[in-house]
Amino acid sequence: MHRKLGLNIDHIATIRQARRTKYPDPVAAAAIAEAAGADQITVHLREDRRHIQERDVRILRETVQTTLNLEMGATQEMLKIALDVKPDIVTLVPERREELTTEGGLDVNHHRDHLKKYVQSLRDADLKVSLFIDPDLDMLRAAHRLDAPSVELHTGKYADARDEISRRNELRRIADAARAAAKLGMRVAAGHGLHYTNVQELVLVEEIEEFNIGHAIVARAMLVGMDRAVRDMVDALRAPAK
Ligand code: PXP
Repeated sequence: MHRKLGLNIDHIATIRQARRTKYPDPVAAAAIAEAAGADQITVHLREDRRHIQERDVRILRETVQTTLNLEMGATQEMLKIALDVKPDIVTLVPERREELTTEGGLDVNHHRDHLKKYVQSLRDADLKVSLFIDPDLDMLRAAHRLDAPSVELHTGKYADARDEISRRNELRRIADAARAAAKLGMRVAAGHGLHYTNVQELVLVEEIEEFNIGHAIVARAMLVGMDRAVRDMVDALRAPAK
């Protein structure tokens, strides 16, 4: 089965914003990545604009040949941008200014009424919506109750697990959540903290259709080039023959 690779290009923009230069341009990186086999381009437009800028999202909307996945917080500002730019998919993520990266999944229960209306507004505009949640069955059911057609499972705890027992536990939680989501008819993606090695076991979870991976690929691209870094990940995502 072919697993989709969504390349998150935020950190190309991180390098650019470090010096407020015009380079490296995430738009150029996206084009090379698609030519190398990426199935999707993912960007997170953060409220503080620390990496991806609105300009990037708008140009990518014109240039991306595969699918454009816009990650964003569920704010009114972002809703306006999403309805205007119309990415192929909107992934709602929790966002805190002080965090280094997205540290946990959305608390769907706590923000239920707000998210229900928010998801509906996006769906009314024919946008596909995904919710970035922890691999937790309660959270998954809550996402399903919001009529979200897809979820992205947060793999950060799995990636950060310090010992084999916790890693196995996290892997099981992801697999259980992926299976439950598929049974409910939801599309399942996964991402955060994944690299060329730790993704191998997740590829064995058949229900996960798509992986959104950023930091590890951009880091490798700095050493071997974007083309090679993407091709290596496309190879890593090929499920072993049964
Ligand atoms: N998926 C989501 C929803 C994210 O927020 C991020 C990080 O921005 C990623 C995937 C990619 O994570 P990483 O850069 O650790 O591969």
